Parts: sequence; C-alpha cells; structure tokens
Amino acid sequence: MGSPPDTSKTIKMERYNSYVRRINSTKLLNASSKLLFRATLLIALVLILFFTLNYPPLFSDSSHHAPIHRHSFLSTTADFFGGASWEKQVRHSATPRRPNGFSVLVTGAAGFVGSHCSLALKKRGDGVLGLDNFNSYYDPSLKRDRQGLLAKHQIFIVEGDLNDAALLRKIFDVVPFTHVLHLAAQAGVRYAMQNPQSYVRSNIAGFVNLLEVCKSANPQPAIVWASSSSVYGLNRENPFSESHRTDQPASLYAATKKAGEEIAHTYNHIYGLSLTGLRFFTVYGPWGRPDMAYFFFTKDILQGKKIDIYQTQDEKEVARDFTYIDDVVKGCVGALDTAGKSTGSGGKKKGPAPLRVYNLGNTSPVPVGKLVSILEGLLNTKAKKHVIKMPSNGDVPYTHANVTLAHKDFGYKPTTDLSTGLRKFVKWYVSYYGIHSRVKKESEVNSEHPKGSAA
Ligand SMILES: NC(=O)c1ccc[n+]([C@@H]2O[C@H](COP(=O)([O-])OP(=O)(O)OC[C@H]3O[C@@H](n4cnc5c(N)ncnc54)[C@H](O)[C@@H]3O)[C@@H](O)[C@H]2O)c1
Ligand SMILES: *[C@@H]1O[C@H](CO)[C@@H](O)[C@H](O)[C@H]1NC(C)=O
Repeated sequence: MGSPPDTSKTIKMERYNSYVRRINSTKLLNASSKLLFRATLLIALVLILFFTLNYPPLFSDSSHHAPIHRHSFLSTTADFFGGASWEKQVRHSATPRRPNGFSVLVTGAAGFVGSHCSLALKKRGDGVLGLDNFNSYYDPSLKRDRQGLLAKHQIFIVEGDLNDAALLRKIFDVVPFTHVLHLAAQAGVRYAMQNPQSYVRSNIAGFVNLLEVCKSANPQPAIVWASSSSVYGLNRENPFSESHRTDQPASLYAATKKAGEEIAHTYNHIYGLSLTGLRFFTVYGPWGRPDMAYFFFTKDILQGKKIDIYQTQDEKEVARDFTYIDDVVKGCVGALDTAGKSTGSGGKKKGPAPLRVYNLGNTSPVPVGKLVSILEGLLNTKAKKHVIKMPSNGDVPYTHANVTLAHKDFGYKPTTDLSTGLRKFVKWYVSYYGIHSRVKKESEVNSEHPKGSAA
C-alpha cells in the first residue's frame, strides 16, 4: 500500500521515442546492412518493451491505488484497455435500451450496493458501465462473482482506479454519460485506524479526480454519490435529519464522507455540476459485505465462534437503522431520476445546478441484540454472545434516519423490516457458501413461520 506512482515506464517510453527519432534522421545516410541491423534491434526493443509492460500483470495488486498507466498502443490482445474491441464493449454496456434511457457510469460496480444498482438500472433499460479496482479490503472473489453476475446481464466493469485520470477521460471520450452513480469508496469505520491513507486516497483524492473529469466532460453528467449516515457522528438529536449538524465526525471514514459533501458543494458552485449525496444507513442484504456485523455474525454463529456484542459506555444497547438493499436501490434510482441536469460545459458553469443531500434509512432502529436473536432463529443455532463495552474505534451508539425529504422528492419509502431482509440474506448466504446442512432447511421453514420476528 502507498507505493509511489511508477514513472519508470514513461521514462523508458521517452528514451524509446528519442531512439526512434535518431533512427529516422540517420537511416537514409546509412548502408542497408546497418539499416537491417537497426531494424532488428528495434524489433527486439519493441518486444522487450512489450514484455516489460505486460509482465507481471499490471492489475495484480489491486490494493495499490496509485494511478496505473496502461499502454494501449502496444496492445494486441482483444479486450485490452483502449483497444477497438475494448471500446466496443464499453459502448455496448453503456448504451440504453429504452427511449430516453440513461447512460450511467457506476463506480464501485463490483461492490455490494454498486452491483445491485447496476442490475436494477440495466433491467429497466438503462445503459450501465461499471468501474472498480477490485481491491482486497474484503475477499475479492466475492467482487469477482458479482462481476460475473453483471456480465450475464451484459454489464461490463472496467477494472481501474478512481485516481486514474487518463482512464476516466478515456471512458468519457467513448461514452457521453448522462449520469454517474458514484459508489466506489473505502468503506468501513474500524479499518480506518489500520489504513487511514486508503480513505484519503479513495474517498477524497479519488472523488476529486472523478469530479475533475465530470466537470470537463461534454455533456457534463449529473452525479449521485454515496455519503454516509456516519456524518452525523456525535449528533444527539433523533431521528437524524439532513439539517442536523454534521461537523463532529467520530471516525476518519465519516470525516472523508463529510469532506466529500463539502467538495460536492464546491464543484456544484464553481462548475455547475448537478450533485446529490445519499446518506446510507447500515445497508444489508444478499451479496453483502463480509466486514459488516450481520455478515460476520452469521459466519461466526454457524462456525460456533464467540461474537462480540457492543454496549454503549452507559450500558445501553447499540442500535442501527438497518436498511435493506432493495430499498436503498430504489432510493438510488429515485435520486437519479430526479437529478436535475448539470449546467456547465467545457469546464464553465452556465447557471445554477441542483445540490442535494438525502438520508436513505429504514426509520426503525434495531438493537444489535435483536439482530443476533433474529439470526439465531434463522440459523437454528444459538450464538455464543460476548457483551462488551464499545471501544472508541469510530462506531456511534445509535442511528435513526428521518427520510421525509427523500419521500417528498422521489417517493422513497422503505418496505423491508429486519426479519424479512435477514431471511433473504441468510437464504443467499447458505446457497452462496454451499451450506447444505440443517440451516438451509430451517431457513426455508422459517420463511413460512418467521421465528425472528417473534424474538
Ligand atoms: N453498505 C453500507 O452500509 C454503507 C453505509 C453508508 C455508506 N456506504 C457507502 O456506499 C458506497 C457503497 O458501499 P458498499 O457497501 O457497496 O461497499 P463495497 O466496498 O462493497 O463497494 C465499494 C466498491 O468500490 C471499489 N473501490 C474502492 N475504492 C476504489 C477506487 N479507488 N477505485 C475504484 N474502485 C474502488 C471496491 O473495490 C468495491 O468493490 C460506499 O461509498 C460506501 O462508503 C455504504
Ligand atoms: C424530519 O425532517 C423534516 C424535514 O425534512 C422535518 O420537517 C421534520 O420535522 C423531521 N421530523 C422529525 C420527527 O424530526
């Protein structure tokens, strides 16, 4: 992590270019034998260069966030970055199949929320192109499987980093996106204490890089992006409303999302970009994130491992406004549908553009103990609970969304309670991980007689 950008390849390239110039200016004066010798040398050089650039594979270390320079001009493989066939794939994926359909760039498309939103947009006839760096913050094979699912629905994910300006510009050269759904980020609250720079790189530098490209794009797209309920930080007012203070973040993650909201203000103000920030509240569901409590509780309960359940410092239960993925997807689509146009062009603002922020929550906080008892019911297994005081690692004791604004502006109305949503999650979990024990049967029985809701 954190290695500097690799410039050695560009230097090699410059040397190579001046070599070619020298050959061009002298070749007419030289004897044909010399010419032949140099031609052989040139071919050898090109071959060496080709292999240095392609081996080892450039994409292997996906946690490496420095800009990746790809050399399409040397490419002979079909779907390599920038090639004709690559462009065709990009265009095909991003072309809408309904009248007045959108053409949406979904960043973080191999992620949890991104994969669900991509599918929903594609299914209604919008064009979708994904972007994801497939980093290893959590098991990348889950991201690869989501990619496989999207591929079945003709959605192509470009493998690359938000910080790769040349790549983003190239994508925008090929496709005149109407919208960007920006979900790529370094997520997770606790991991910020281990790897703070990854938050700065993806959530701040990467976001600015994306906005720079969007502002110069013609036409400018409207942008909907994921902020977080964590921006409410130490806010004590309940439920959390968009007008409440967000200047007391409890984690670096929250601080980078808050920074994103301020950066959005700037790009809206200067360049006329239409920007909508969505504050998600603990999203869960099938294809979810293994670093989140509902997910690793399920894993640990099944493996008979002890699980830590947090209590607040004053011994109250920690509670979360768990929001089911399908409800969040509807919110994202609603925000895209109502996003006014960006007004700028050629990097210049032509008039005021919309700047919005919305809560997307479930409006019904559930204590973590209740979450665990629902899971126990669905998994037909008793959890080994270990109740401890919440360490001050960035988590907040309580979240509760007021979604009045999202309801008013795009009819957002969450409809999935935690028991129903977790049943769908567990069903996916046992089938995805191939757990064909009593769990599977029990979870099917439970879908007729939900045990969880009585807990
Ligand atoms: N899931 C939640 O409960 C929740 C809550 C609040 C906010 N959010 C926000 O919603 C968005 C989506 O979250 P998610 O749960 O789907 O997370 P996720 O980690 O599953 O998805 C994010 C994706 O972005 C990719 N990515 C990260 N950095 C990148 C970079 N620099 N360049 C290209 N790709 C990059 C990752 O590989 C990943 O696939 C994130 O912005 C997250 O902060 C999520
Ligand atoms: C919810 O937010 C709206 C503004 O969007 C506000 O008018 C209303 O009073 C809030 N409700 C509560 C219970 O705080």
